Amino acid sequence: MKNFITTQNWSRSELQDIVDFAIELKNNPYQPLLKNKSIAMLFFNPSLRTKTSFEVGISELSGTAVVLQPGKDAWPIEFQENIVMDGDAEEHVKEVAQVLSSYCDCIAIRAFPHFKDWDHDRTDSVINSFAKYSSVPVVNMETIEHPCQELAHILTLQEHFGDLQGKEYLLTWTYHPKPLNTAVANSSLLIASKFGMNVKLLCPSEDYHLDDRYLKAAKENCASEGASFDISYDIDSAYSNADIVYAKSWGCLSHYGKIDEQIANNNQFKHFIVDESKMALTNKAVFSHCLPLRRNVKATDGVMNADYCIAVKEAGNRKHVQKSMLSKIL
Ligand code: CP
Repeated sequence: MKNFITTQNWSRSELQDIVDFAIELKNNPYQPLLKNKSIAMLFFNPSLRTKTSFEVGISELSGTAVVLQPGKDAWPIEFQENIVMDGDAEEHVKEVAQVLSSYCDCIAIRAFPHFKDWDHDRTDSVINSFAKYSSVPVVNMETIEHPCQELAHILTLQEHFGDLQGKEYLLTWTYHPKPLNTAVANSSLLIASKFGMNVKLLCPSEDYHLDDRYLKAAKENCASEGASFDISYDIDSAYSNADIVYAKSWGCLSHYGKIDEQIANNNQFKHFIVDESKMALTNKAVFSHCLPLRRNVKATDGVMNADYCIAVKEAGNRKHVQKSMLSKIL
């Protein structure tokens, strides 16, 4: 039984197999590969793309998706061990995971961090508790990583470039008025480094460094692929010669849990918006983002409307890669 919680547990060739099969499914979408299989999808947070692409994709493979929102249409769940459950939660993940495992063939989880204590949030306790107590594979639909987005990102880049080895990859922080999850940024580093690209992380300051776990993994992946990993604070040099610009906003970990301080920090860096003049510095780069994206805050209309913007294509590819991944793990 193999979970799909982080791509770090999957080799480059295993991930490439998923992407390759996704292309077959894109050309031939309706196959009964999940016939008589049920997938429980638990959403602790909102979604447009993930929910829709999983539900439609599972249906196209003749499977059944059951969508639950704990605390809304399903009981609120407790995750702490050895606790007197006299708060809001009505049942413990230990029972929830076992019961869902008895009905379904897979449990997929979206559970963002709580944005209070990074030392706690970095343990990814919700999905890891499900993995601990479930007897069926567990899939990450975004927690502190977003591996399904990673697969769609790689498929979309390979459709554009073919081989990605040695491409100049820029992950840039971009402005947003609120401190957001680091998941897609963490994932961007993991997958770009795993696929042999020269990875550059552009941050406004050291406060915006991602967790050491991801910086270390990216460095190690790059080293084993013969590629480079750098952190930059200089917009012009970071963009120059990039082949790929991937943008994401995230809250600075140094002020994690202090929302007002994070907002004040972000407000100093509105100029990190991705605009046409920055894109003009690149090697005719493609631009992408996981979406949702606030236009003219994170990226300008000019960038979003340009031919080089592949964000919508990447979102579309979510369905194909997820169908492929589910077919393989089930
Ligand atoms: N990119 C992504 O996961 O989109 P949703 O939050 O809409 O699912």
